[in-house]
Amino acid sequence: MEIRSLRFDGKVLHILDQRKLPFEFIDVPCKSAEDVWEAINKMKIRGAPAIGVAAAYGMYLGIKDTPENDKEAFFNKLKKVKDYLDLARPTAVNLKWATARIFNLAKKFENLPIPEIKNAILSEAIAMEKEDAERNFRIGEYGSTLFKDGDTIMTICNTGALATVAYGTAFSVIRRSFEKYKDIKAIALETRPYLQGARLTALELREAHIPFHLITDNMAGFIMSKGLVNGIVVGADRIAANGDTANKIGTYTLAVLAMYHKIPFYVAAPVSTIDIEINSGKEIPIEERDPDEVTHCGGKRIAPEGIEVYNPAFDVTPNRLIDAIITDKGILKKPFEKSIKDILK
Ligand code: MRU
Repeated sequence: MEIRSLRFDGKVLHILDQRKLPFEFIDVPCKSAEDVWEAINKMKIRGAPAIGVAAAYGMYLGIKDTPENDKEAFFNKLKKVKDYLDLARPTAVNLKWATARIFNLAKKFENLPIPEIKNAILSEAIAMEKEDAERNFRIGEYGSTLFKDGDTIMTICNTGALATVAYGTAFSVIRRSFEKYKDIKAIALETRPYLQGARLTALELREAHIPFHLITDNMAGFIMSKGLVNGIVVGADRIAANGDTANKIGTYTLAVLAMYHKIPFYVAAPVSTIDIEINSGKEIPIEERDPDEVTHCGGKRIAPEGIEVYNPAFDVTPNRLIDAIITDKGILKKPFEKSIKDILK
C-alpha cells in the first residue's frame, strides 16, 4: 500500500486525514486556502515538510479565482492568503518558508499578466512537492552512512511519508539503512498525547516491513539502559542558526537520555527547516494545544474533571545534545553555527 499525505489533481488538493489513521483512510478534498488552513490547523495533515507543501498549494488555491485585471488587488490578496496560512500552526518553519517562497516567486514575475503569475505559482507548488521527495531521499542516503548492519534505531513521532511528500526525514534514514544493511531494527515511541508514533509510524514501519517494537514514551530510558539502542534519529520542526532544534514533545527527554547512555543522537531535516533568522531555540514559538489531548486518550476521558493541564506540542533540544544534523545537503557537524552557515551559502 502506498501511503501519500497529499495529492493535487490539477484543481483540488487531496489530503489524507491523518486523524483517522491507522483505521480509516479518508480523503479530504481542499478547494480553497480556507480548506488547507483547516486541514493544517486541525492536524488532518501534519509534519513540517508536508505542512509546507500543503501551504504552497494553499497559496495557489487562495488566488486561483481572483480577478485578472488589477495587479495591486492581486498582490494584496496573495499577501493576505500568505499571512492567513502562516497562522495555521506556529512552530514548523516550513510553513512560512513555503508561503514566502511562493510569494517571492510571484513578486519576481510581477510584470507578467496575472494568468501567467497564477500558472507560475502553481508550477512552483508542484516543483516544491517534487523537490521534497528528492530531498528526503538524499537525507536517507546521507543518514544511512551513520549506521551499520545489526543496528537498532530509535525514533519519536512520525517523520515518514505521512509527514512529508515521500520517504520522510528521520524515517528515510531508517528506511534507507534497512534497504542497505538488511539487519536493521527500529524502536518507535508512541508519542503521547497525539500518538503519531503508535498510529502513524507503526503503520509506516509495518508497511515497509522494517522489524520494530512500539514502546510507550516512558520506556525509552530503560530500553536504552539495556543496551538495546545504537542510535536515535528524530525529525525537526525548526532548527535555529545555532542548531537548537524544536521537534515533537519528548524529543528533548530522549536527547538527555541519549547523552547519559552515550548513544548518538541525530536530527534529520531538509535545509528548509533551518530558520537562519533566529539565533537560538529560545526564539522558537512553541504551539500549545487543547488540554483535551492530555485528559483524553482515544476519545475517552482518563483524568478527573476540573484540573489544570500543560500541553506544549513541541520542545527544544539544545545543540550540545545533538551529535549531527542530517540534511539533504549533507551531514552537519559541530559547531553547528558554522556548519549551518556554510551549508546555506
Ligand atoms: O505535531 P506534528 O505531528 O506536526 O509534529 C511533527 C513532528 O514533530 C515531526 O518530527 C517534524 O515535523 C518532522 S516531520 C518530517
